[in-house]
Amino acid sequence: MAQRMIWNQTAYFGAGSISVIPEELARRGFTKAFVVTDQVLVDTGVAAKVTTLLDDANVDYEIYADVVPNPPIENVQAGVACFQASGADVLIAIGGGSPQDTCKAIGIIVANPEFSDVRSLEGVADTRNPSIPIIAVPTTAGTASETTINYVITDVERKRKFVCVDPHDIPILAVVDSEMMSTAPRSLKVATGLDALTHAIEGYTTAGAWELSDLFHLKAIQIIAGSLAAAADGNPAAADRMALGQYVAGMGYSNVGLGLVHGMAHPLGAFFGAPHGVANGILLAPLMAFNAAETGEKYRDIASAFGVEDAPTMPINDARTAAVEAVAALTLSLGNPTTITEIGASESDIDALAQAAFEDVCTGGNPRTATVEDIAGLYRSLL
Ligand SMILES: NC(=O)c1ccc[n+]([C@@H]2O[C@H](COP(=O)([O-])OP(=O)(O)OC[C@H]3O[C@@H](n4cnc5c(N)ncnc54)[C@H](O)[C@@H]3O)[C@@H](O)[C@H]2O)c1
Ligand SMILES: [Fe+2]
Repeated sequence: MAQRMIWNQTAYFGAGSISVIPEELARRGFTKAFVVTDQVLVDTGVAAKVTTLLDDANVDYEIYADVVPNPPIENVQAGVACFQASGADVLIAIGGGSPQDTCKAIGIIVANPEFSDVRSLEGVADTRNPSIPIIAVPTTAGTASETTINYVITDVERKRKFVCVDPHDIPILAVVDSEMMSTAPRSLKVATGLDALTHAIEGYTTAGAWELSDLFHLKAIQIIAGSLAAAADGNPAAADRMALGQYVAGMGYSNVGLGLVHGMAHPLGAFFGAPHGVANGILLAPLMAFNAAETGEKYRDIASAFGVEDAPTMPINDARTAAVEAVAALTLSLGNPTTITEIGASESDIDALAQAAFEDVCTGGNPRTATVEDIAGLYRSLL
């Protein structure tokens, strides 16, 4: 069996690393950039940290800043039209997962116009051409969209979030600079950090995990467990660690998949507009408990990463309990909601949520098989 691993061509890390962008653009021969971002990042001056560098280097560019969280199909289609009118030859994504994912969809459709309806990109789309080249600059320590082969778009009309998996979309260059993330409010750092922790834990235990992906996920769990709380409180060294940790998680999960936490989080985003990381944070510990029996020795490593001292020697069932409790305790201490009621769900939504989660692309990677009834029961237990 052939195991495939795909990563960025080039990636830079560290506070201030966005300074490399003008020289990278010149070295690669690009003449005009199309910047995909959102209005909050324009208003707070985050996008300007990059565009000022472009101004100083006399790089021609245009900005598309209409992306909204849980980006809808319409954001992609409007972005495609603006890109086509711009004459640009490179995309620069500045943002959290929403602008980065929109940017990927724009780059894919410009290069593969037969997918301009956007919906047909769901799952593994048969695109023929690589995306317009993308330089990705994350502003949250969460999704790792800058190094994944995935993007997530919302179909507002059908109340669905759908995941697109396509090696053609991977950014050629990622610039992971924690100073781009420093303006994020605490609640956003918590939510996006819990998304990253979910990637690391789901990726570590997903059905397709293997030795090379384990390497990234275990390291990511260690980094995130040790830095998320301090990063949320504004510690710059911890923020640097989170920027790295979320990226390392992405290097793993992008290649092997996720599980039912993401499968169940996507409908919560589509139905109620719940921030992706908040939804993951509610689901992670309960779903870890649901999956525990199918995870071999892996929860022992997770418990160790969370500082449970006798995890290496305790009976495996105790180690599993310790891992679940450690994640639950962190989530609680960070102040993330713990019920789906808090994000707007009620009993009457459960059947539709469960059906959507059952059909989600991520659900197939879960280590324990779950029926629609199992999923409904899990949602119900979180009301
Ligand atoms: N492509 C992937 O592999 C992947 C993986 C996981 C999640 N996702 C998707 O990514 C999206 C979530 O992305 P996200 O959690 O990064 O949030 P986001 O991009 O949706 O941003 C949320 C809000 O935070 C603001 N924000 C972002 N960075 C900021 C900063 N530095 N300072 C101040 N405000 C800032 C944004 O303007 C926005 O209002 C969801 O749609 C999710 O499904 C994609
Ligand atoms: Fe995620």
